Amino acid sequence: MCASENRFLAALRGDTVGTPPIWLMRQAGRYLPEYQEVRRQAAGFLDLCFNPDRAAEVTLQPIRRFGFDAAILFSDILVVPYALGQPVDFLEGEGPKLDPIRSEDGVRALSLGKVEAAVTPVWRTVEKVRSELPGDVALIGFAGAPWTVATYMVEGGGSKDFASVKAFALSEPQLFQEMIDRVVEATVLYLAGQISSGAQAIKIFDSWAGAVPADRFGAWVIEPTRRIVAAIKQRYPDIPVIGFPRGAGTLYHRYVDALGIDAVAVDPSVPIDQMRALQDGLPVQGNLDPAYLMAGGEIQSDAVNSLLSALADRPYVFNLGHGINRFTPPEHVAALVAQVRAWKG
Ligand code: CP3
Repeated sequence: MCASENRFLAALRGDTVGTPPIWLMRQAGRYLPEYQEVRRQAAGFLDLCFNPDRAAEVTLQPIRRFGFDAAILFSDILVVPYALGQPVDFLEGEGPKLDPIRSEDGVRALSLGKVEAAVTPVWRTVEKVRSELPGDVALIGFAGAPWTVATYMVEGGGSKDFASVKAFALSEPQLFQEMIDRVVEATVLYLAGQISSGAQAIKIFDSWAGAVPADRFGAWVIEPTRRIVAAIKQRYPDIPVIGFPRGAGTLYHRYVDALGIDAVAVDPSVPIDQMRALQDGLPVQGNLDPAYLMAGGEIQSDAVNSLLSALADRPYVFNLGHGINRFTPPEHVAALVAQVRAWKG
């Protein structure tokens, strides 16, 4: 590993780097008092995402505090439906709210024409972060996978059973496909702009892949994501792509085989021996349950040790299995980073 080389990018290339790199999903967020301070200054959550100065600041905060190996752009997966013209709002304590789309008119109103103008501030954030980030810290860009983004677009927000989006996809397959096609196109544009602005790796979040019936996994999860990966790889063959089909269980292997991704992020429901089996094919990232970071102490350090002993002898990126919880004590994060840094393999 040369001096300017980044540990995280090296692991994604398949190098075993001794001490594995570490970053955390949702590492910028409400568990940090300095995030809350900037968040209070913004008019709303989307205003924070679309303000390059503020978004760059909160992207950099966890790097300054903890010295992670990678920063992840501060934005949200719902920037894409917003850019396609669907109204999106984030209500305090309630999560995202969208005007649900369940009709032909709703799908046809999604317009690619204004996507570029809408996401340009996010690209400015990427440029700004890259110019301020130390050379040995990588910058990750991201987007939601079309299925996960579509769940919010059709349900109008979060959901427990995904009844509306599944009913829509099954009973109006052509209309659903048209919606997915627009999301795919907008996402490729959005990600390509992140890369040309300075993102050095891309992560695709399919947070609700686990809600898809097994016989639709190919059509709803794999195929739209495969198109995005292929389009990005065609333009930027050297930019590593991490896929995250959260909750995919035994279908992780199929996902990895079909997609041509460089690494796979794994959720906490996946046993360590399945992670090792995935590691036969590509670098893995994950999968500490965020609850361990809330508990802290020995409970936390034992779980971290298990992951490091099982996985760090091959290409591995230490991470949580999903986003950090807002009630996590920052000292527990500092202890985690110290433990991973002390690992010599
Ligand atoms: O990881 C990071 O630090 C980068 C920023 C990031 C955010 N959202 C910021 C955010 C990333 C990568 C996301 C991805 C995202 N957004 C996903 C996929 C990953 C996952 O967690 O499953 C999803 C499903 C969303 C949609 C979304 N955004 C929801 C459901 C919510 C509300 C839930 C919550 O935690 O409040 C958001 C809001 C959101 N996105 C917050 C942050 C920091 C909290 C809002 C706030 O500060 O007011």
